[in-house]
Amino acid sequence: MKITLEQLKEKPMPQHTAIIMDGNGRWAKSKGLMRAAGHRVGVQALKNTIIALDELGVGYLTVYAFSTENWRRPQEEVNTLMELIAEFIDKEIDYLDEKGVRVNPIGDISALTPKALQSISYAKEKTKNNSHIIFNVALNYGGRQEILRAAKAICEAVQSHELQIDDITEDLFSKYLYTAGQPDPDLVIRSSGELRISNFLLWQVAYSEFWITNTLWPDFKKEDLWQAVWEYQNRDRRYGGVGK
Ligand code: IPE
Ligand code: IPE
Ligand code: MG
Repeated sequence: MKITLEQLKEKPMPQHTAIIMDGNGRWAKSKGLMRAAGHRVGVQALKNTIIALDELGVGYLTVYAFSTENWRRPQEEVNTLMELIAEFIDKEIDYLDEKGVRVNPIGDISALTPKALQSISYAKEKTKNNSHIIFNVALNYGGRQEILRAAKAICEAVQSHELQIDDITEDLFSKYLYTAGQPDPDLVIRSSGELRISNFLLWQVAYSEFWITNTLWPDFKKEDLWQAVWEYQNRDRRYGGVGK
């Protein structure tokens, strides 16, 4: 069945879409190329996805670009990824700014290479007043790290009597996460077929709908995104209740 934009627009969009952009390495391997080539084409797929989400009117996008575990990769690949982060931001920042995208890095970005850190910090500052699309880029991000960081900050606030233990609710806890003030992801997309969360947004995905495709990230197209949104729109989100 061919899905049209009109059909998608009839039903509520996922307000927040999160994507685990996986499969760049396998894509390159299948073509006899270096892994770096896969990452490079993957960046183009990201650009196209931002354009497609804008067309749909999705207001929040979170992408997993570099995990706290990705440091385990060969140094050369880590370097390539850092270079591509800076390159993507430097090349696309004016476009993103024009589109009203707010670039919001999430994760411990202090550990990035100086060039990547400089580019992402510049992008964050330049786009800080935009509100059309909130674009969270997870960089040196780990869900457990994020939860620990929040727990520590809350402990400090209790120690200094800014907070009482009874003030600690789910709502308050959420305010200490990188995604403070944002809705939780409605839809989580993972490319390349792995059935795991890989330490991504552990707190926030409590009630997200998952959509996994075997398509490798560099091959991910608008049609894949539309398929994901269509299936999302036709799910029954019961939240533990009995549904419609
Ligand atoms: C995703 O593709 C990109 C990052 C993790 C940065 P991979 O590099 O993980 O690709 P595969 O999983 O090895 O195919
Ligand atoms: C998850 O992909 C991280 C990013 C997409 C940045 P990985 O390829 O690192 O995850 P695993 O190793 O398959 O769990
Ligand atoms: Mg992978």
